[in-house]
Amino acid sequence: MDALDTATWETRAAALAAELTAEGVLADPAWRDAFAATPRHLFVPHILNGPASLSAGDPGWLDAVYANESLATQTRPASDDTTGREIASSSSSKPAVMAVMLERLAAEPGHQVLEIGTGTGYNAALLSHRLGADNVFSVDLDPKLVDTAQEHLIAAGYRPHLAAGDGFAGWPGEMTFDRIIATCAVTAIPPAWINQLADGGRIIAPLDAGAAGPLLVLDKTADDEVSGRIDPFPVLFMPMRTDVTSPFAPGQSPSADAAGMPHYGTTAVDPAALLEWPDLALFLWLHAPGLRLGGSVEHGVVVAERGPARAEVDLAPLAEGTWAVRQSGPYRLWDTVEHAVAMFDTLDKPDATRLGVTALNVPGKQFIWLDDPDSDHSWPLA
Ligand SMILES: C[S@@+](CC[C@H](N)C(=O)[O-])C[C@H]1O[C@@H](n2cnc3c(N)ncnc32)[C@H](O)[C@@H]1O
Repeated sequence: MDALDTATWETRAAALAAELTAEGVLADPAWRDAFAATPRHLFVPHILNGPASLSAGDPGWLDAVYANESLATQTRPASDDTTGREIASSSSSKPAVMAVMLERLAAEPGHQVLEIGTGTGYNAALLSHRLGADNVFSVDLDPKLVDTAQEHLIAAGYRPHLAAGDGFAGWPGEMTFDRIIATCAVTAIPPAWINQLADGGRIIAPLDAGAAGPLLVLDKTADDEVSGRIDPFPVLFMPMRTDVTSPFAPGQSPSADAAGMPHYGTTAVDPAALLEWPDLALFLWLHAPGLRLGGSVEHGVVVAERGPARAEVDLAPLAEGTWAVRQSGPYRLWDTVEHAVAMFDTLDKPDATRLGVTALNVPGKQFIWLDDPDSDHSWPLA
C-alpha cells in the first residue's frame, strides 16, 4: 500500500465520524474521537464487494474505505454447485452499525472487552483507542484473518490480545470480561459467554434472524444468566460459523436438498405481509429459528425456507383471502408459519421493543418473553 498522507486519512475519518453523528448513531464524544482517530484504510487494503473489487491505491478505493458501508474482505463459495457465486465470510462492518453496537456496549475506561469476530481488526482498533489495547481481547475462527488483523493493528499502533478459535467457546483461557461484543450473528447465546461475563457485565450480539436482525442487549442478572430487551435496530451480520471454508452456519447451506413429496394447499395468511412487516418477520423467526423469507413482488412469490423444508406462496390470491401454497421437505413449514401468525395476532401484533431474551448458561434454557421476563408468554429461543 502506498503510504497515505496523514492529513488525507484524518480528514476522511473525521468526515465519517461527523456523518455518523449527523445520522444520530454516534452520540458519545469518546466514540466519536475513536472513529475520527482510527485509520480504517489500514484494515481494508483489499475490498471484495462484488465485481468492483478495489485494492489500496486504486481509484475509488479511499472513497470506499471511508464511506459508511460494510466492506467484504473475504469470500467463500456459496454452495457445492458450480455457479461460482461467492458469499462474504468476513468484512469490515458498516460503521453506523458498529457505532450503535459500541454505544449500546456502554464500555467504560478500565473495562475488559471480548470481541467475537476479529475480522479485519478495525473494531478491535476502535475498542483499543477507547479502552487501551491491553483491555481488548478478540477471537476469530479463521487463523489467517487473525494474522492479518494483527498486522493491521500493529500498523495502526495497537496490540490487543488476539486468538484464533471458535468464539462459541469464548476466550481460550480463564478470563472474565466486563463486556462481550459479537460481530457475527448468533441464534442463541453460547453458554461460555455467560460464564465469562463478569458481574454487572453486558453482552451485545446481533440475532441471526433471517434478513437484518435486531440486536440482543443482555445484562448479567445472575451467575448463570443474562437477560434484556431486544433492540430493534436492524443489523445484518454474517452468521457465526464453525467451518473456515464455508460462509454458512451449520445447517444453513442452501445445498441441503428438500426431500419428501410436495404438498399443495391454500392459506389464509397474506404472504405479502411477511415481506413488508419486519416485526412479523422477526416474530416468525423467533418461532421458527433459521427461517429465511425471500421472493419478491417481481417474481410473484414468497419463499420460506428452513433447512430442507420449503414453502412457496403465490402473491396473487386464488380468491379473496386465499393464496396457493406449495410445500416440500420433511415437514410442512407453512403450517408452522400459520401457527406463529395466529399467535402474533392473538398477542396484539407485538413490535420488537416488547420482546426480550433471558439466557441461562445451559443449552436449551434460553427464552424469548413478551413485555416482562416473568410474562405468561415466553417460548424457547432456538
Ligand atoms: C463481520 S466480520 C467481523 C468484523 C470485525 N469485527 C471487523 O471490525 O473487521 C465477522 C467475523 O466473524 C468471524 N466468525 C464467524 N464465526 C465465528 C466463530 N465461530 N468464532 C469466531 N469468529 C467467527 C468471521 O470469520 C468474520 O471474520
